[in-house]
Amino acid sequence: MQIIVTRTFAGASDYVAEIIADLVLSKPTAKLGLATGSTPERVYDKLADMHFKGLDFSRVSTVNLDEYCGVTGDNPVSYRYYMNEKLFSHINVKPENIYVPSGINNPEEELELFSYKIYNGKIDLQLLGIGPNGHVGFNEPGDKLHRAAHITKLTQSTIDANARFFNDKSEVPTEAITMGMGDILSAASIVLLASGASKADAVKALLMDDYITTQVPATFIKMHAAATVVIDYELANMIGYKVKG
Ligand code: GLP
Repeated sequence: MQIIVTRTFAGASDYVAEIIADLVLSKPTAKLGLATGSTPERVYDKLADMHFKGLDFSRVSTVNLDEYCGVTGDNPVSYRYYMNEKLFSHINVKPENIYVPSGINNPEEELELFSYKIYNGKIDLQLLGIGPNGHVGFNEPGDKLHRAAHITKLTQSTIDANARFFNDKSEVPTEAITMGMGDILSAASIVLLASGASKADAVKALLMDDYITTQVPATFIKMHAAATVVIDYELANMIGYKVKG
């Protein structure tokens, strides 16, 4: 695992945007696995800015990690809406090259379509955030993890963490559709971006310990040959990670 520590979170976000931009420049048909949440917001701002300055997304395709169940894409709390607002409406990616799983369609059909979208051409780069409990996508801690795309119940930790995007905690959906851990690990490369005290325990398990555990799903990323974790100095300090060199 490559670990990058930047001075600020803005710097970490810019670093990740550069990785994505470099990929799109070297491979104009790149397939990007995308994430939502507050963490990648500046990455998307940067990519929008780079597009404004000429970066071409016309042959890029995208697959998103997850979506809430029972929420339509025109609902501002949906990940589909987030992606449209933060990225898709600012770059020239073709609508037909975008896939965000639907949380309202027939689950069996949607999961089949989701898997097809993941594996019909390898994902070149999977962008990830991380939940306070170490979830990635919506792969929640437990005795077992799923390999493939599935519908999952959200843990209280995740409902609490995501409540800030809703008027009231009671409005947070209790189920979501998500890529499985095997799907995430099937990407040619993974870039995980993290910042903030709430992520310290999970990022510590990822960077400071050698074990892999289903209780902290993000630890599975250690097994990926081309994974990069980008954090800021403040978080590195919190977990006791010493920058080498
Ligand atoms: C959600 C998403 C994850 C995301 C996580 C962290 O639960 N399903 O993909 O990484 O939240 O979100 P944030 O970046 O807002 O802290």
